Amino acid sequence: MELPVASAATASLQCSFLPRHGLLGALGHAGRERRCIKKVLPAKITAKFELKPPPYPLNALEPVMSQETLEYHWGKHHRAYVDNLNRQIEGTDLEEKSLEDIIDTSYNKGDILPAFNNAAQVWNHDFFWESIKPGGGGVPSGDLLRLIERDFGSFPKFVDQFKKAAATQFGSGWAWLAYKANRLNVGNAINPCPSEEDKKLVIVKSPNAVNPLIWDYHPLLAIDVWEHAYFLDFQIRRHEYISMFMDKLVSWEAVSFKLEQAKAQVAEREREDERKRRGEEEETFTPSEATTEEIYPVSDADADAL
Ligand SMILES: [Fe+2]
Repeated sequence: MELPVASAATASLQCSFLPRHGLLGALGHAGRERRCIKKVLPAKITAKFELKPPPYPLNALEPVMSQETLEYHWGKHHRAYVDNLNRQIEGTDLEEKSLEDIIDTSYNKGDILPAFNNAAQVWNHDFFWESIKPGGGGVPSGDLLRLIERDFGSFPKFVDQFKKAAATQFGSGWAWLAYKANRLNVGNAINPCPSEEDKKLVIVKSPNAVNPLIWDYHPLLAIDVWEHAYFLDFQIRRHEYISMFMDKLVSWEAVSFKLEQAKAQVAEREREDERKRRGEEEETFTPSEATTEEIYPVSDADADAL
């Protein structure tokens, strides 16, 4: 992602991280700014991935999730994934790719490359902060609720399955609600739900940094069950953290928005597939065949002679 010198002002703003919340943000600022200034000295600037702040202040989730947890989880762990990723991809082919493409490339069919864990954790945490909000929880509505009831039987049954997936993920990892569509087979990973119908909601859990993108699923909701996500508030009581997450933090508006995005992407992909299919059909239809039919139509007399 090299930018021309004319974009220096913009790139500086992208690189300069303004600590909006908490002490840890302020401590991290100096290091990032020094690194960016160093980048400005040559003729070109390299814009890298940024630590994206949660869409609310770090104390906004209290008393359900403490400010201290967010200062460590976002300000320290999430920041470390961003900084480590930027160091890992500097000067490599991955530097030119989007975060999603880095995840796909570095997953490498399960034989993961060094950048995968940090890239996926950056994506996962960006997604996680957007999955929750102050005063969240409750029951979804609209098409999301309709699909949940269709695919899990009822909203309470869905909640039970989601909680079970999060609680039984052995060690560090994630649990997800995802929209699965149009891909019974995936090129980069083993599909965890190969026998499931397409265009439906599924619950999956994943170890460490793995996320549903590698299965070509569309993530809608994520809960981080790494211990760093809940230890300060709940110590080892993961069950309590999961219940609190579902009852008081989930932003169903965000999940509904992700579902609409997923359906739109799937529809566009189907249209693209249809355009490709029609294009292939036209290529196999030769002009000489068409000309022959137009010049020598089969008449009734011809048919009688056959
Ligand atoms: Fe985390």
